[in-house]
Amino acid sequence: MSDLATLEQRAKTELAGCNIEAALRAWNTKYFGKTGEVLAALKAIGSVPHEQRKAYGQDANRIKETLTRAYEDRLAVLKERALNASLTANPLDVTLPGRPVQRGRLHVATQIMRQIYSVFADMGFQVYRTREVEDDLTNFELLNMPPHHPARDMWDTFHTTTPGVILRTHTSPGQIHVMRECCPDPIRVILPGMCYRYEAITTRSEIQFQQVEGLVIGAHVTMADLKGTITAFARRLFGQERQVRIRSSYFPFTEPSIEVDIDWPKDDPNADRLTKGTGWLEIMGAGMVHPVVLRNGGYDPVKFSGFAFGMGLQRITMLKYAIDDIRQFWGNDLRFLRQF
Ligand code: PHE
Repeated sequence: MSDLATLEQRAKTELAGCNIEAALRAWNTKYFGKTGEVLAALKAIGSVPHEQRKAYGQDANRIKETLTRAYEDRLAVLKERALNASLTANPLDVTLPGRPVQRGRLHVATQIMRQIYSVFADMGFQVYRTREVEDDLTNFELLNMPPHHPARDMWDTFHTTTPGVILRTHTSPGQIHVMRECCPDPIRVILPGMCYRYEAITTRSEIQFQQVEGLVIGAHVTMADLKGTITAFARRLFGQERQVRIRSSYFPFTEPSIEVDIDWPKDDPNADRLTKGTGWLEIMGAGMVHPVVLRNGGYDPVKFSGFAFGMGLQRITMLKYAIDDIRQFWGNDLRFLRQF
C-alpha cells in the first residue's frame, strides 16, 4: 500500500518537473512503458496476499487513471506553451495583405497581331501558317525571281550551311505553299510570321521582324477588291477617317505592284517625324498576283486572278503607338512592355 502511495507521489512530482515535451515522453516511458513502474504495480496484483488484494487492486487502478489524466493534462499545457512561445518568437501578422501576384500580359506585337487577325477574320480570311526556314526555290525562284535576278537585292538573306536553305526574308513564299495546297479552290488567307534579313540593326530595321501576308485567289478578283480590302483594314486598325493612298511600285511577284500609304492626323505631335513632313505613311506593299506566280501555284492565269499584300507587323505597331525604336520589340525592357 505505502509503496503505491510513494509511487504516486514520486510520479506526480516528476511530472510537474517536466518542462519540455521530450521530458514528458521519457516520464511516460518510465511509468507506462512495457517495463514501466505503473504496469509493474498492476502486474503485482496477483502476488498480493488475498485479503489485501482487492484494496491494492483498486488503488493501483486508481493511480493508473490519475497518472494517465495528469500526463495528458501536462502534455496539453506544454503544447500550448510551445505554441505561444513560437508565436511570440516569430510574430506573424495574419491581417497583412498578401503579396499581389503579378499579372503577365501579351507582348504589344502579339496584341496588334491579334487585332489584325480579327479584322481580317471579319472579312472572311483564314490564318495559314508556313515555315520560317525556306528553300531558295520558294523564297525567290517560284516568286518570279530566278537566280541572279537583280530584284533579289531587295532582300538581304541569311543562308544556312546547307546550300539553298535560307531563313525566309518575307512571308511571300507562303503564297506558293497555300496555293499548292488549295488549288483549284479559291483562296482568302493571311499568312503571319517571323522573317529574317541580314541587315544592319537601326532604329528602323531589325534582322528579325514579323510580317502579315495576305493572299486572295478567285475567278474575278480585281484591283478594286485589293483597294477595298486594304482601305477597310486601315480604317478598322487606325480609325474610320483614315485616307488611303496608293502609289505604283515594283515587286517581281505582283503585276501591277503598289505601295499603300495612310494619312496621319496632323494634330498628332508625332505626325511630322513619322511622316517626314509629308503627312503620309507607308504601311505595305501589294499588287495583283503575277501570272508566273499563279502558274507556279497551280492556277491557270486565264481563269484565275488574285491579289497579295505584305505588311510589317512591327512597323504597323510603331505607327499605331508612335514607337520610335524598333529595337524595343526584342529588348525585353519591362518599362517599355508594361505601357501596353
Ligand atoms: N514580300 C514583300 C516584302 O517583303 C511585300 C509584298 C507582299 C509585296 C505581297 C507585294 C505582295 O517587301
